Amino acid sequence: MLDNNTFTPNFEFHPLNKTIIDVTRILQGQAALQNIKFKVNTPDQELIVQLDQLRLQQVIINLLSNAIKFSNPNDTIKVDVTTDISALTTSGLVIVCIKVSDKGIGISPKDLKNLFKPYFKTTDDLNKTKNKDSHGLGLSICQTIVKSMNGQLDVESELGIGSIFSITLQTSVYDKSSQQKKVSDPILL
Ligand SMILES: Nc1ncnc2c1ncn2[C@@H]1O[C@H](COP(=O)(O)OP(=O)(O)O)[C@@H](O)[C@H]1O
Ligand SMILES: [Mg+2]
Repeated sequence: MLDNNTFTPNFEFHPLNKTIIDVTRILQGQAALQNIKFKVNTPDQELIVQLDQLRLQQVIINLLSNAIKFSNPNDTIKVDVTTDISALTTSGLVIVCIKVSDKGIGISPKDLKNLFKPYFKTTDDLNKTKNKDSHGLGLSICQTIVKSMNGQLDVESELGIGSIFSITLQTSVYDKSSQQKKVSDPILL
């Protein structure tokens, strides 16, 4: 639950690539309305990692909805998933990075400083017309969720060029020999 700017994550083991691919499918129809395509790159190896799957998917839905909203028709939005397994043998941990990149209208340096503050909306003219119905809460909620997972949410952006939002998480990889609980296909309610 989100309470006092934090929440308790519900970590279980899930396939990383499938988690990301499934969530992009949810928004593919919405993107297609503007002829926007997703290009999703995942690691060759499907790792089973400890995630709060629903919360992570909620964050990605927010980032993708923003990317769609601020892209131009016919654009491609990239979702790149990378894993760094160099510490795996010693610590059992892997670093996961999920980047959502768009070539949309971008964000100015002065707005970037405030982007994760609750109720903040960017102030550039192009942006104002697109975000007139928004509340400016999505990214602050995303940041609270990612921090509660001990992760980090970062942004790089340039006005007129586009934006890259990155989620970085450090997480455990499923170990068959231990008694870890694996949930590969949660039941969608
Ligand atoms: N990919 C993006 N490109 C350009 N501007 C963005 C992007 N994502 C978010 N923004 C800007 O950041 C502000 C905050 O976004 P967000 O917190 O998601 O608001 P909301 O919850 O209302 O969608 C908005 O004013 C929006 O204009
Ligand atoms: Mg939003």
